[in-house]
Amino acid sequence: MFQLRCTVRNCNGILEKQEQGLVCAAGHHFDRAKEGYWSLLQPQDRKSTKPGDSDAAVLARHRWLARGYASGLIESLLPWTGARVAGRSAEHARILDLGCGEGSFGPALFASQANGYCGIDLSKRAIKLAARKWPAATWVLANADRVLPVCDASLDCVVSLFGRRPVAEIDRVLAPEGICIVAVPGEEDLIELREQVQQAGHRRSRWELVVEEMSACGLQCVEHQHWKQQFVLDSVAISDALAMTYRAVRYSQQARLESVSQMHVTMAADLLLLQRVA
Ligand SMILES: C[S@@+](CC[C@H](N)C(=O)[O-])C[C@H]1O[C@@H](n2cnc3c(N)ncnc32)[C@H](O)[C@@H]1O
Ligand SMILES: [Zn+2]
Repeated sequence: MFQLRCTVRNCNGILEKQEQGLVCAAGHHFDRAKEGYWSLLQPQDRKSTKPGDSDAAVLARHRWLARGYASGLIESLLPWTGARVAGRSAEHARILDLGCGEGSFGPALFASQANGYCGIDLSKRAIKLAARKWPAATWVLANADRVLPVCDASLDCVVSLFGRRPVAEIDRVLAPEGICIVAVPGEEDLIELREQVQQAGHRRSRWELVVEEMSACGLQCVEHQHWKQQFVLDSVAISDALAMTYRAVRYSQQARLESVSQMHVTMAADLLLLQRVA
């Protein structure tokens, strides 16, 4: 199993798997939820201005991914996650996915690496779905914006697909040759939908800022891909795309799309492969 660290304040002890759960040397104990994930969330970690995605957003993304809208994106990422990860053969690589969501990307990208893969999310609904889908991997309910529950320099790969990017912690946990894979929405992502809903579609490119943030902690962008695909969405897919993207689309804004039964929509993402500068 993926090695985790105790999240009790200032403890950081290695967690050992015992019959009744995970235990550190100081005796702190964590149970396995019946769905198969570990809750390492401390009471103070729940206090977050961003408590993770709402159940509605998680379920919308779950339906969206089940309909295959991310297949092309997965194809684009596979060359970075295939046979070797950060120079290590796939079966020995240790991978942490920050804001893993409902867990579709883990098994799609790291199919043969269940032992070395761990997904973290702050949404209980998301982590339950993920644990059900790929029980052989490790799933953790935790706040990725706090101290990450892993040892210094212990990971070969940190993944953040539209997820969290705690740069100082990523720097702490990555091994010297470790890589970081980041996906952020591209500037024309869902542009047609945004133009209809907000009556103005702002195009904002985010990836340059991510490269800047990451370079501040010694991670250099070694490859950038711009993924873009057009889909014809039906009304269910349109409302799922809205639900998983905009937290508080006003009723009046949503109403603008109620009569639309199908729409051509662009999906786009910037994909970054980063590595520590020697
Ligand atoms: C846009 S979703 C992406 C999920 C997944 N990576 C995917 O691409 O399908 C962002 C995820 O980050 C999670 N999240 C938000 N804040 C978080 C935090 N502080 N710690 C851990 N996860 C968080 C949300 O619950 C949500 O599942
Ligand atoms: Zn402890």
